[in-house]
Amino acid sequence: MSPSVDAPIEIRPATVRDVSDMLKIINDYAAGQVMLARSPLALYENLRDFLVAERDGVILGCGALHVVWGDLAEIRSIAVLPDQKGKGLGLRLAKDLLDQAGLLLLPRVFAFTYSPGFFAKLGFHEVAHNELPHKVFGDCLSCPKFNACDEIAMLLELKPVQDTIHQTGPLSRGMPGLFQGPFPTKVEGQEGKQP
Ligand SMILES: CC(C)(COP(=O)(O)OP(=O)(O)OC[C@H]1O[C@@H](n2cnc3c(N)ncnc32)[C@H](O)[C@@H]1OP(=O)(O)O)[C@@H](O)C(=O)NCCC(=O)NCCS
Repeated sequence: MSPSVDAPIEIRPATVRDVSDMLKIINDYAAGQVMLARSPLALYENLRDFLVAERDGVILGCGALHVVWGDLAEIRSIAVLPDQKGKGLGLRLAKDLLDQAGLLLLPRVFAFTYSPGFFAKLGFHEVAHNELPHKVFGDCLSCPKFNACDEIAMLLELKPVQDTIHQTGPLSRGMPGLFQGPFPTKVEGQEGKQP
């Protein structure tokens, strides 16, 4: 089905019905070595990590926020359809994932990526892999590229928030967050009020 270009794009939590489209988007890029492949099992097991971008019933992109430790989460498997690249959709997905990190009170978010420029636009900076031991001694141990990882580690420190309520993400309606990414959204009329 072709999406209507006029229909709005919704960013929402993924459902089991989205998994085959998400797998196709991710694994088509993985075949070109630009991101890691994911199995159906990995997507089902981590389904609640994922947001999708949908227009007119068509999945245009996806991305996940995976909690790694008490102070750390990872943005992973973020991708948009090739014909949707460069339209700001990746940024929208990433910003909503960072909003979720704030709502979970996670002060640091990282990504392992071949597209460091994209994450740099969001305020991430490059770090050495050994600055992320929970990742390296967790997921990475079972990765075939463990001794020859060529992905770049990018890290973002979220800023503490005292007076901002996040309402951009689909899971965040009306809920307060204590950390924010570089793109806070203040709720109309709520500035200065404690949540
Ligand atoms: C990376 C990806 C998700 C970005 O999504 P997108 O919708 O194309 O990106 P946006 O349009 O939101 O771009 C936001 C900004 O990041 C920049 N950007 C996007 N991809 C970039 C890349 N690979 N390298 C450097 N900068 C990049 C854009 O130029 C834009 O900057 P601008 O505002 O100054 O023009 C998308 O290109 C994609 O699906 N790539 C293949 C899969 C992949 O590599 N995923 C990331 C690793 S897990």
